[in-house]
Amino acid sequence: MSKVLVCFFSTGGEDVASGENNELGNTAVMAQLIADKLKEDSHEVTSFRIEPSTPYPDGYDQKLARAMEERSMQERPEFVGEIPDFDDYDTVFIGYPIWCSDLPMIMYTFLEKHVFTGKIVIPFCTHGGSGESGTFQTVQEKAVGSAPGEGLAMLGDLTRKPGGKLQVDHWVEQLAV
Ligand SMILES: Cc1cc2nc3c(=O)[nH]c(=O)nc-3n(C[C@H](O)[C@H](O)[C@H](O)COP(=O)(O)O)c2cc1C
Repeated sequence: MSKVLVCFFSTGGEDVASGENNELGNTAVMAQLIADKLKEDSHEVTSFRIEPSTPYPDGYDQKLARAMEERSMQERPEFVGEIPDFDDYDTVFIGYPIWCSDLPMIMYTFLEKHVFTGKIVIPFCTHGGSGESGTFQTVQEKAVGSAPGEGLAMLGDLTRKPGGKLQVDHWVEQLAV
């Protein structure tokens, strides 16, 4: 069985689409579903949460203002820690919420910091209605040298419903990791 890494960024907080205040973010829930399914299928799985060095505010308006500022300045926000033995993983799942029809800028930091040559990179994301917004292509372009794996985009609140788990399980099965 291959060694699989599931890395993800997720902020949670105020979710405008569902009206909930999520302590655990939607993408974190999706990442957990993916890791659980992979473990069920006997894979060795490591999860890594991309934690920003400067935490984002919980409130949607404040977070949006910061996200837009980072995007317009093309910032590369830093994250805490690093992944031990990154080279050892054959398959890397990369998850994030859609922000302003793009990847959050911290994902550019993450993608530019690692060497993906020879790995299979599989993106996943949660969103409020806009779908993956072309970000799967961006991930494959930034993860230089990786082989593309088919991504999964999911509405944020679906991750917490039975249908979300079914969709993740089905997707992981057909990926044949
Ligand atoms: C700053 C910001 C920008 C967002 N931009 C979009 C967007 O362009 N399209 C969309 O469908 N959802 C957008 N959303 C909604 C999130 O993608 C969605 O709520 C996601 O599930 C949040 O994931 P998280 O709980 O893991 O942080 C945005 C949310 C935030 C906070």
